[in-house]
Amino acid sequence: MAHAARWSAVVFVLLCFLGAAESRRNVKCPSGCTCSKETLICVGASQIPRTIPTEINSLSVVNGSVAEITEGMFALMPSLQLLLLNSNSLTAIKDDAFSGLSHLEYLFIERNKIDTITKNAFRGLRTLTHLSLANNKIRFLPRDLFFDLDSLLELDLRGNSFQCTCENKWLMMWLKNTNASVSDVFCAGPSDMKGKRLNDLPIPPGECISTDFVRHQSIPIQSMSADIFSFKEDIFVALAAPNSNSCVIMEWDHIEMNFRKFDNITGKSVVGCKSFLIENHVLIIVTQLFGGSHIYKFDEQQNKFTKFQTIEVFNISKPNDMEVFQMDGNWYFLIVDSSKAGMSTLYKWTDLPDRNETGFYSYQFLHEWFRDTDAEIVEVDGKFYLVLASRSQSPVIYLWNKSTLKFILHSDIPNVDDVVSVKAFRVEGELFLALACYIGDSKVIKWVNKQFTEVQALPSRGAMILQPFTFADRHYLALGSDYSFTQIHLWDTETKTFHKFKDIYVQSPRSFTVVTTDRRSFIFSSSLKGKSMVFEHVFVDLSL
Ligand SMILES: *[C@@H]1O[C@H](CO)[C@@H](O)[C@H](O)[C@H]1NC(C)=O
Ligand SMILES: *[C@@H]1O[C@H](CO)[C@@H](O)[C@H](O)[C@H]1NC(C)=O
Ligand SMILES: *[C@@H]1O[C@H](CO)[C@@H](O)[C@H](O)[C@H]1NC(C)=O
Ligand SMILES: *[C@@H]1O[C@H](CO)[C@@H](O)[C@H](O)[C@H]1NC(C)=O
Ligand SMILES: *[C@@H]1O[C@H](CO)[C@@H](O)[C@H](O)[C@H]1NC(C)=O
Ligand SMILES: *[C@@H]1O[C@H](CO)[C@@H](O)[C@H](O)[C@H]1NC(C)=O
Repeated sequence: MAHAARWSAVVFVLLCFLGAAESRRNVKCPSGCTCSKETLICVGASQIPRTIPTEINSLSVVNGSVAEITEGMFALMPSLQLLLLNSNSLTAIKDDAFSGLSHLEYLFIERNKIDTITKNAFRGLRTLTHLSLANNKIRFLPRDLFFDLDSLLELDLRGNSFQCTCENKWLMMWLKNTNASVSDVFCAGPSDMKGKRLNDLPIPPGECISTDFVRHQSIPIQSMSADIFSFKEDIFVALAAPNSNSCVIMEWDHIEMNFRKFDNITGKSVVGCKSFLIENHVLIIVTQLFGGSHIYKFDEQQNKFTKFQTIEVFNISKPNDMEVFQMDGNWYFLIVDSSKAGMSTLYKWTDLPDRNETGFYSYQFLHEWFRDTDAEIVEVDGKFYLVLASRSQSPVIYLWNKSTLKFILHSDIPNVDDVVSVKAFRVEGELFLALACYIGDSKVIKWVNKQFTEVQALPSRGAMILQPFTFADRHYLALGSDYSFTQIHLWDTETKTFHKFKDIYVQSPRSFTVVTTDRRSFIFSSSLKGKSMVFEHVFVDLSL
């Protein structure tokens, strides 16, 4: 209050002086304004004078309709020490608005409609001691706005609409540290902050950090799945591309920071393309709807993949997905069969050179008469469970019997139908499954007391994938959609459920796969009908 009273007094004295005195010298006073020896006042003006007599050191333009201050508007008035623009119609103060005012000490812009002030608006005002922006419509101020105000003694920001959010975090810190006296400033929002004093809000650092997914690369290849693998410090992706009848291998270019073509395994109706490293060799299993399924091996001399083995597909009719895993030191993979006429089949790696048997051989046939869609292997307390999802029944769980070395049917997951993908993940040590349903509700379920219970349902509109992934302690779930945006959900550590976080657009997404390289994190999304996309996971500082 005291500061405001003092400032008003300054203005009052000024006005009285002007009213009483006539200009004694024959100076050129702008029309519509009143000039005295050192002061000039324009009441009700619509513009700011372009030039003023040189001996004037205070300029007031009050109760007018001045709507903007343009850059350098006061450049021809270097002698000004006081500038008062109260009760006009200003809505913004832009960069370098006061350039050239190298002796300005008092600046009053009160009772206008200012809602925008740009970062360099007060640049160069090194002698300014008093600044008032009281009674405007300011919600946010840009960081370092007051950087040049080395001499500031008093600042009045009352009567504005400050939002006490991350964007104003810097202002709260600045208010705490400044040596200038500042009038009390209150938060106008958000609702939980309303009425609190901006000057002494404790904002813990880190609270204003969020993340985002930014488009990084789009790849003109339609793909069913994307499998990431690394070999000798290089990162590759194997894309199952049914429309171009191939399994496309791309390599991460560490200089260009994107994926470029590396090799192309051609086939017929390729639906799966899955890599694994075995005894320092990269192998890729390529499943096809027609023409059988094959394993390719990376030939370092030729720098390309060459055929290594044709696998038996006795009981496979319509391969849908593949899962590669290791149990008790042995390598297996499972081809999930989505036809009633076929059977999901487990293959085991065998290395018997004397018998001319080095490769994968069918080992166990599972689940007759069901249209399986996806499989996931989970290890709980040293036991291996295989979760097999199916369109024609609830997901079933097989348990690996360590004495017979076969999977035996163990249980099912009731009340979830028509599951198209199943993915396991852990949060804070607990095991969850993410089950995607095409239309209806996709589910997040949790392993409690040796069975799965529902945690959350996520409405799905054309979802073929519900993919969990984690970056920097943040757990996400990407729910793909054929009809709309893919929704990324973020785990909330307090409610222990996922909340909608962000939408990204991928046409007919089929997989989301994490790529971490060069200290950056990406998510690779395959698209069955459009371009495959790479999104970067970035941190965003919400404070301006
Ligand atoms: C300010 O301007 C308004 C109209 O624009 C007028 O009605 C009012 O009398 C003026 N006030 C002073 C003190 O000049
Ligand atoms: C405030 O004044 C003290 C003492 O003169 C000085 O050390 C400090 O840097 C000043 N702080 C700011 C933010 O100018
Ligand atoms: C892979 O090679 C086949 C045959 O040469 C070609 O038709 C197809 O377009 C290629 N795919 C890509 C993605 O380059
Ligand atoms: C699976 O394939 C094997 C090998 O051809 C065959 O002996 C067996 O009968 C098949 N099983 C079923 C259920 O079709
Ligand atoms: C192993 O298989 C290859 C190709 O099928 C054949 O040429 C070779 O004679 C076989 N060797 C033995 C020991 O059976
Ligand atoms: C594994 O199979 C053996 C032999 O059939 C059986 O006795 C045993 O109970 C099975 N173990 C489990 C955990 O089901």
